[in-house]
Amino acid sequence: MKRGLFSSIAPLYGCFFQFQLRMYRKFLLLPSLERVVGSRAKVLDVGFGTGALMQALLEQGHDVAGVDYSTGMLRVARKKLKTGGALLFHEDVREGLSFETDSFDVVFAAYVVHGLSSYARRVALEEMARVARKAVILFEHSDSPGLMVNAVEWLEGNHFATFKKERAALLASIFDWCETIPFSKRSVVYVCQQDIL
Ligand SMILES: C[S@@+](CC[C@H](N)C(=O)[O-])C[C@H]1O[C@@H](n2cnc3c(N)ncnc32)[C@H](O)[C@@H]1O
Repeated sequence: MKRGLFSSIAPLYGCFFQFQLRMYRKFLLLPSLERVVGSRAKVLDVGFGTGALMQALLEQGHDVAGVDYSTGMLRVARKKLKTGGALLFHEDVREGLSFETDSFDVVFAAYVVHGLSSYARRVALEEMARVARKAVILFEHSDSPGLMVNAVEWLEGNHFATFKKERAALLASIFDWCETIPFSKRSVVYVCQQDIL
């Protein structure tokens, strides 16, 4: 989806903030996540949207920063985030992240990487891996996300189809190890790490 389109849908997207917040609170309680993220971690949320995942991370006491390339999403996230303290950056991950290597313990991206072209997806994941000290955690559609999501993804250029096809080889080429955790019928979590020995 184009950056401008994300900005136009941002106010509507914001209506689902509480629903998403409940989902992300549950997501952060997955045992694998609790183990990898730990307490009071320094975390980055890439493509934070209206900020629901950042809010859930703030509630857990983490030190939170996020990047998003849509000014509309940035505006809504500023209004929605209650706990305060999250640092919001206007950046396009396809152009590289402005942070130093290993700046964060964990980097999250929720419903972002499937929507990028194959080339941009690799750039984005390599950048996330570079700035993450411990893990990159992706929250994504499952392979059967339902008719509605399939239709929207198809209309957007069907990067989701290449994501499904290329995902395993791509993740294996960047990370040493990835755990796939089914979260619900419609969503799945990838916990990816380097040098875990
Ligand atoms: C489907 S929304 C998901 C938002 C949020 N992570 C969530 O879970 O609701 C995708 C988000 O990623 C952002 N995004 C997409 N491509 C991006 C890029 N190349 N760089 C930074 N942000 C991007 C969009 O602006 C949008 O806010």
